[in-house]
Amino acid sequence: HRHLLGIEGLQPHEILGLLDRAEEAIEISRQVEKIKPVLRGRTQINLFFENSTRTQSSFELAGKRLGADVMNMAVSQSSVKKGETLIDTAATLNAMHPDILVVRHNAAGAVHLLARKVSCSVINAGDGQHEHPTQALLDALTIRRHKGKIARLTVAICGDITHSRVARSNIILLNALGARVRVIAPSTLLPSGIEKMGVEVFRDMKEGLKGVDIVMMLRLQRERMNGAFIPSVREYYRYYGLDQEKLAYANDDALVMHPGPMNRGVEIDPAVADGPQSLIREQVEMGVAVRMAVLEALAAHLPNS
Ligand code: CP
Repeated sequence: HRHLLGIEGLQPHEILGLLDRAEEAIEISRQVEKIKPVLRGRTQINLFFENSTRTQSSFELAGKRLGADVMNMAVSQSSVKKGETLIDTAATLNAMHPDILVVRHNAAGAVHLLARKVSCSVINAGDGQHEHPTQALLDALTIRRHKGKIARLTVAICGDITHSRVARSNIILLNALGARVRVIAPSTLLPSGIEKMGVEVFRDMKEGLKGVDIVMMLRLQRERMNGAFIPSVREYYRYYGLDQEKLAYANDDALVMHPGPMNRGVEIDPAVADGPQSLIREQVEMGVAVRMAVLEALAAHLPNS
């Protein structure tokens, strides 16, 4: 593939190939000299139209550890603020001959559109409510390192499913690798037809968490709710916030994940987020490794490589 636009369209062996490649990147990242210069001389531009802490910084570090020249476009200080369109912005950057564009945008499909307009490789760093492929890959890597496999594990994805690109990418990836996927949410945060994605639907945390190996919590994405439905945070926490009492319904060796950013006391109790079953910090480390793996895989398809 020249681009990574989503998990949809990737074959299981391609996903597993990226996870294996990421294992090597973990080793590189733990060395004193964190460098494997397969992208030396290449230019990577990070173009983030939405805020990010983890994804942008890990793509920057990943590119640098592979020897690329990495530029972060500060969209808030760019001519986007003067009305320049996404496509004109991309065409302008494309004229500077980047090799890889890493793009986050608030509109689903925007990254696919952009990929058709530029001559370089494009990586989707999150497009609206659609996909966040590198998040699903880093989640899978984290799970596999702890459970030794993905197939036949039961994974519950809990919370704001409707507005979550993380949920979509994870559902596609986990199903592709043979996991049993559940979603747990109030009806108002469940998209219609979600069953067709191959998930079992629960509206009650205690029922949904029984027998679960992995509990994946999601942030309430109030910025995507357009004021249409904002649940009372206190009520939401009572019924859907992951605390020790609800976690006790999952398997004894269940592990807790959250893509970040976390809203402590909204979807997760700080004691669980920082507790012994939490993999949240490790997910961040895996994020750098997975992004190195993706960049390295795309490097093989760059012209003259
Ligand atoms: N998980 C994730 O995408 O975090 P950021 O929005 O901070 O990049």
